[in-house]
Amino acid sequence: MEKEKLEQLLNDMSLQEKIDQMLQLRGNFYQMDVNAVLTGPAAQLGIGEKDVDMAGSILGTYGAEALKKIQKNYMEKQPHHIPMLFMMDVIHGMKTIFPMPLAMGATFEPKLAGRCAETAAKEAACSGLHVTFSPMVDLVRDARWGRVMESTGEDPYLNSRMAQAQVKGFQGEDMGEEGKVCACIKHFAGYGAAVAGRDYNGAELTERTFRQYYLPAYRAGVEAGVGMVMTSFNTVNDIPASTNKWLMRDILREEMGFEGVLISDYAAISETVAHGYSADKRAAARGAVEAGVDIDMMSSCYSENLAELVRAGEIDEKLIDECVWRILELKNKLGLFENPYKDADPEKENKLILCDEHRALAREAAAKSCVLLKNEGILPLDRKKRIAFAGPYTNCKEIISSWAVTGDAKDCVSMEEAAREVLEEALTSYCEGSTMLNRDTKLAGFESTNRSQNDQKDTQNEKTEESLLAEAVQAAREADIVVMPLGESFLQSGEAKSRAMIDIPDVQMQLFRKVAEVNPNIVVVLFTGRPLDLREISEKAKAVLVAWLPGTEGGHGVMDVLTGKVNPSGRLPMSFPYCVGQCPVYYNEFSTGRPWHEGSKGLFTSRYLDVPNKPLYSFGYGLSYTTFAISPVVLDRTEMGAEEAVTAKVTVKNTGAMPGTEVIQLYIRDVAASVVRPVRELKGFEKVELMPGEEREVSFRIDDEMLSFIRADGTVGSEPGLFRVWIGNCSDTENGAEFVRK
Ligand code: BGC
Repeated sequence: MEKEKLEQLLNDMSLQEKIDQMLQLRGNFYQMDVNAVLTGPAAQLGIGEKDVDMAGSILGTYGAEALKKIQKNYMEKQPHHIPMLFMMDVIHGMKTIFPMPLAMGATFEPKLAGRCAETAAKEAACSGLHVTFSPMVDLVRDARWGRVMESTGEDPYLNSRMAQAQVKGFQGEDMGEEGKVCACIKHFAGYGAAVAGRDYNGAELTERTFRQYYLPAYRAGVEAGVGMVMTSFNTVNDIPASTNKWLMRDILREEMGFEGVLISDYAAISETVAHGYSADKRAAARGAVEAGVDIDMMSSCYSENLAELVRAGEIDEKLIDECVWRILELKNKLGLFENPYKDADPEKENKLILCDEHRALAREAAAKSCVLLKNEGILPLDRKKRIAFAGPYTNCKEIISSWAVTGDAKDCVSMEEAAREVLEEALTSYCEGSTMLNRDTKLAGFESTNRSQNDQKDTQNEKTEESLLAEAVQAAREADIVVMPLGESFLQSGEAKSRAMIDIPDVQMQLFRKVAEVNPNIVVVLFTGRPLDLREISEKAKAVLVAWLPGTEGGHGVMDVLTGKVNPSGRLPMSFPYCVGQCPVYYNEFSTGRPWHEGSKGLFTSRYLDVPNKPLYSFGYGLSYTTFAISPVVLDRTEMGAEEAVTAKVTVKNTGAMPGTEVIQLYIRDVAASVVRPVRELKGFEKVELMPGEEREVSFRIDDEMLSFIRADGTVGSEPGLFRVWIGNCSDTENGAEFVRK
């Protein structure tokens, strides 16, 4: 629709009609039985029937037929026949589920993340959806927080590259085109900094840390043209995000230049009352609209109060017009005025969803996201050996995350299914060995979903714990190698899934110990939504492979790696702590005045008495089946003027016997500055695929922007002085050089 016509439409709308556009309800208000997914607390909303009829958007319902029907009914009733927006959490795939986002971070391959987003968009669009609440770009440092699985990790640079690629993947150049959906970056802002890793907790961040570490990925998403941003549940500077005018108007709109739709998180506007910020829902509505939040997701704050606030002269109708304008513009960008059903097409759903091409991409991503933490020559598997699979993930199809709400476990390929395709039947055995969880473990949330019922069934497995264990021990005795697929249940990570202990469930550890007593040749394959405490596993197992929650084609992807069809190239996007007491632990920390280092003599250094300072496995770490030699760093100059650049290069050589891929990472430190700077920061990376004996030069151009930060006076720029550069295959590489910025 032309701009003038859209303006005319807005002018013609009544106040009530406008306010209706600002309400978003769950799909099951419309039809309780059709593919409606519950993703938040079922609050007593107090929404009248009229509001339900006229709400401008719905979330959590999909399916071409159902959405076409809802759209038709809605438009017939809507006074100006304005189409409705359909939104959904398509987080890591629609029906073809890709590895969870943290696993995608491990690929260090933004292009691949972009391709997965593009594919998810195709499946979502033909299912009738217009907007996905993805990507989640919150920086995460604390493994206790259950939502780390939804992020691409602890590094602002990696997160920014991933955010950008995914936004482009979902939206393409024009979100109105076939197969595209509008992306939504979330949760603005600082949600990943929840104090003590407890979900919904406040974020305690200095403004400098907030801006330099937490904001860049959101900014990258905005710069990539994202159409929507979602507020976060937490407070920022002690004010809830959804009513935080400074955050939404000054930073998001003014500084970042975001012009799209700002939606609240689920009931987040009304929750500002519980925060102790808004006196009541009326005040909450006023605070949120003043902050420029366009859509109220699943609360009645706007629908109950905005009209009254305007009539009482407490808010200017112009504020409402601004919000509705942005909503109408989004509908227009999606082409809904011309075609309100957009790509909803049952035939295409049949053809595209879970098609071979999509499954192949999911398999590629699952294999590329695997991170090999340890390997004492036992991997790739020797197929002539007798192999026993023992662990509750052996034949488990629940390998998509709790945020794969549109996905179906039944579509997944388990490890056993994949193994049976490639391993000698006579030489291989399969058993569970234990239940997934200790029988007394309580999992809150998602109770009403079928998926949690499956999990319950699992814990009530008919076999007794003893018989499961005995079966595994016997199999381990008879085997040369024991592959142990262990880990967290998928219901232990995700929203509201914080854990104070980041252990593998005890019942599985008992299995591991018993197996280790009879067979030392153990390969642990770890299924998890977060970094776990792997001290014992990593000490006793011969190999440890992190498979994360790898998605629909997880079994195939993991078996490709175990058999050596794919050489592992994933690198940790988030540190694996030594133990939970280190959390939050991350590589780009500040030094202290009393830094501890190997050989430190003084007693009064910054360290723990009982555990190391370093995580068990650092950011950027990961092994390959081949070996690589990285030459010393060579700089083309050792002095750099403000307008100049330094080129840093290394030569990488595959010194092993297999083709393989190394992730070359560039880190920089500003040695002394007007404010303290991190001990090192990732500023670039490149994946290099090399044949045995092959070598390649990798170079990075270091310019002034890479050296810039928020200086003591608040301005952004670099400062003269000494800089250290490292190029290697992990954040703790010592392969360095120095230059001076004049
Ligand atoms: C989550 C969001 C999600 C929304 C809608 C909320 O509980 O925090 O990430 O997009 O629900 O499902």
